[in-house]
Amino acid sequence: MVISQESEIIESVLALGNHIGHTPLYELQHISPKKSVRIFAKLEWMQFGGSVKARPAYNIIKQAVLNGELGNGKILLDASSGNTAIAYATIGARLGIPVTICLPENASWERKMLLKGLGVSIVYTSKFGSTDEAQEKALELYQNEPDKYFLADQYGNENNWKAHYDTTSEEIISKVNGSLTHFVTGLGTTGSFTGISKRLKEVNEGITTIALQPDGALHGLEGWKDMETAKVPGIYDPSLADRFMNVDTFDAYETLKLAAKKEGLMISPSAAANLKGALQLAEEIDEGVIVTLFPDNAEKYSEVIKSLF
Ligand SMILES: Cc1ncc(COP(=O)(O)O)c(C=O)c1O
Repeated sequence: MVISQESEIIESVLALGNHIGHTPLYELQHISPKKSVRIFAKLEWMQFGGSVKARPAYNIIKQAVLNGELGNGKILLDASSGNTAIAYATIGARLGIPVTICLPENASWERKMLLKGLGVSIVYTSKFGSTDEAQEKALELYQNEPDKYFLADQYGNENNWKAHYDTTSEEIISKVNGSLTHFVTGLGTTGSFTGISKRLKEVNEGITTIALQPDGALHGLEGWKDMETAKVPGIYDPSLADRFMNVDTFDAYETLKLAAKKEGLMISPSAAANLKGALQLAEEIDEGVIVTLFPDNAEKYSEVIKSLF
């Protein structure tokens, strides 16, 4: 059912906030190389929508509903290759907001079926153009029919990083405040790194923030962007990183297996890459508390998982 009354949709969007975020901060007890270095990860698949992207998608939709840009029959339009599209789709289905996604045609079969099942209209773009081309297509559709669409623009929308500034960082602080020494995560839209680092630095400027990058343009870490070669997101603020580290895809896949066997977690390639970054860092420091994110679990990556086990 499409909720048409303005007050009803505002009520529904605010109520949905209870199911976004509030994810566990899980200690990796068996794979830290030293007892004096503790490593924690936010299990971000444990929320409505099933990934870290529920937070920015929800905040973008909430702000647009509150200021009247959505909820009046307008279609939410954006480019995404995965988690953000699924997050928009689940939230859109719940609130009766139609969603159109520009998606590179090489997205996995599972992604396409999930989005179709959730009622999304998909506009396919070339497999050679990645999400950069999908972004250009979304902009073109919007410019042709601005009254039909709300362009969510996750790469340039300040409500992306603000979601993490307001929620993810506060959840981390409430659990490890005082002891946290390092925060490390990979860059995609850069919303999670930007929002969390900004807030953590305000609380304690001594916390070291480390941004992770793939070791080249061609990599197997879905959700990550190589900032040297990709279109740089409008919200990206490189000055927030004290340091950059590279993670090799093969090493990430080995870490994925380790996390399954030693910690009981079946995580996604990008979550494993974050863990690999945290482990590399743990080798270098004598003591500390490292926090990272596990953006999603392995469920949507059957092709990768099949090749590993
Ligand atoms: C699986 C996965 N990992 C990492 C990221 C990167 O997060 P962010 O966009 O906040 O930089 C994303 C974002 O789409 C993702 O879907």
